[in-house]
Amino acid sequence: MAESRVPRSRRFLVCEPRHFAVQYAINPWMHPDRPVDVDLAREQWQDLIRTYRAHGHTVDSVEPVPGLPDMVFSANAAFVVGGRVFGSLFHAPERRPESLHYDTWFKAAGYAVHRPESVTEGEGDLVWTGRYVLAGTGFRTTREAHREAQEFLGHPVIGLTLVDPYFYHLDTALFVLDEDNIVYYPEAFSPGSREVLRRLFPDAVLATRDDAMAFGLNSVSDGRHVFIAPQAEALSGRLADHGYVPVPVDLSEFHKAGGGIKCCTQEIR
Ligand code: ARG
Repeated sequence: MAESRVPRSRRFLVCEPRHFAVQYAINPWMHPDRPVDVDLAREQWQDLIRTYRAHGHTVDSVEPVPGLPDMVFSANAAFVVGGRVFGSLFHAPERRPESLHYDTWFKAAGYAVHRPESVTEGEGDLVWTGRYVLAGTGFRTTREAHREAQEFLGHPVIGLTLVDPYFYHLDTALFVLDEDNIVYYPEAFSPGSREVLRRLFPDAVLATRDDAMAFGLNSVSDGRHVFIAPQAEALSGRLADHGYVPVPVDLSEFHKAGGGIKCCTQEIR
């Protein structure tokens, strides 16, 4: 079955963790009194970039800015489909200034950026399945932003309500494997949203709370390789059973800020 999974090469936007730290707490993972090993974080991040390149993916990067310790989480800065850039308006005041720097990068790269009016955090809560947009709400991105995203992108936006503060962004509870399938942790969603996911993806790979707490749902798939936290061992095994090839990349230092592989990766489509 593994032979039938075909990878598609991607273009990713990242931001080096030069100023990464946990200085404030805007999700339950963050404890400013628990130190981050800055050198280890940098090595882990570089390993992620090397691994992407070794698998044929293109990686572009935004220059990090002092005083913006979460800027490494590039996924939160925009959501791009078909060259349309739907920018971010961060929930936390601490992160709001990041948008300007990412918007500047997009403009220099030749893209027009839509500045949203409502709170929305890029690919943190907006997930492209290849056919439509799955959109999280409950902690960060608002329903109003879902409407704005649909109007701007011209793709159907399907709202999903998140209910567990540990999984405050959709990309901590769900990821797309390929055009046909996803992986998600059902208990992170309201009963109605769970039902929606069941109807849309009857064959989805279901994750456990342990998989989710190990940041296993904060993964990136190219259709064949799944770049995944090594701590999510059980989920990796299940993905292999489904014919995918798990590629472990350890970003444990970033877990201390509530982020993992996917949070550090924005896809430009
Ligand atoms: N500390 C960051 C925040 O709470 C982590 C963001 C993680 N990114 C993600 N795509 N889930 O905003």
